[in-house]
Amino acid sequence: MHIPDHFAVNGRIIPAEQATISVLDLGFLRGVGAFETFRTYDGHPHALGEHLRRIWESADSFGQKPFFDEATVRRVVAEIRTRSGHAELRVNMVVTPGSHGEGVFGTTGEPTWVVIARDVHAPPESSYEQGVAAVTFQSSRHLPTLKTTSYLSGRKGLELATKAGAHEAFYVDDSGYVTEGVTSNVLIRVANRVMTPVIDCLPGITKAGVKPIAERLGLTWYECRITRDDVYTADEVWITSAVREVLPIVRVDGKPIGDGRVGEWGRKLRQAYRAQCIADAARDAG
Ligand SMILES: Cc1ncc(COP(=O)(O)O)c(C=O)c1O
Repeated sequence: MHIPDHFAVNGRIIPAEQATISVLDLGFLRGVGAFETFRTYDGHPHALGEHLRRIWESADSFGQKPFFDEATVRRVVAEIRTRSGHAELRVNMVVTPGSHGEGVFGTTGEPTWVVIARDVHAPPESSYEQGVAAVTFQSSRHLPTLKTTSYLSGRKGLELATKAGAHEAFYVDDSGYVTEGVTSNVLIRVANRVMTPVIDCLPGITKAGVKPIAERLGLTWYECRITRDDVYTADEVWITSAVREVLPIVRVDGKPIGDGRVGEWGRKLRQAYRAQCIADAARDAG
């Protein structure tokens, strides 16, 4: 029997095909919105506190104050999971100012909150065993330290990636620095140093979780600018994001990274990070 996905609109859980918002929503009319993506482990949301902190920081850019809490999100996600029948979920949570009122950005007062939770659809294990490719492209994301819904700047990069059979595209700014992936953070390893940009990019929650693990395993962590050449000549390159955890990049712009195979550190970090996520989610769920 086919069980339809269920989403939540302003806390009301409904079958996906009935989940709608107004055409007057400022998210639709003006692209004003904040969002988060997180996943579950054993059905429990991972790092939900951090994702909520970040969505409210992003929503503050359009003056939206917090209007739901962690316990409510846990309840909604658990209910969606029960109704949809997926073992693990990828959860997209979007907040907008709601319907258009007076003036360009005026609203009628009620914000919109949507929870879209579907099967986690993580990359196949073969992507972690063999690594994936990335391309670079010159562009930058609007308000890059926030997770707003304005992701159009990444479209060109992902088009190039698709043409090249690559998985991700890395933003390169006007000065030639790699800032982040279209939907991920970028990390490189050179000898025992991990280097990752912190300027003009999203402060990734996955990356923050990987840092203490890398240090515990003996790597030194540097938050610094990295150039395209730094990436090409690194021993290992990884991307991090909530759903992909730590994914090894073995080719950038067609050039092999190191010997072009997944490195030992990438494997170790992903394994340790995943174990930590499972433990964190169980602890947070009480
Ligand atoms: C632009 C961008 N940078 C970085 C990340 C990684 O962030 P996180 O680890 O919090 O998922 C994402 C995740 O979607 C992203 O969209």
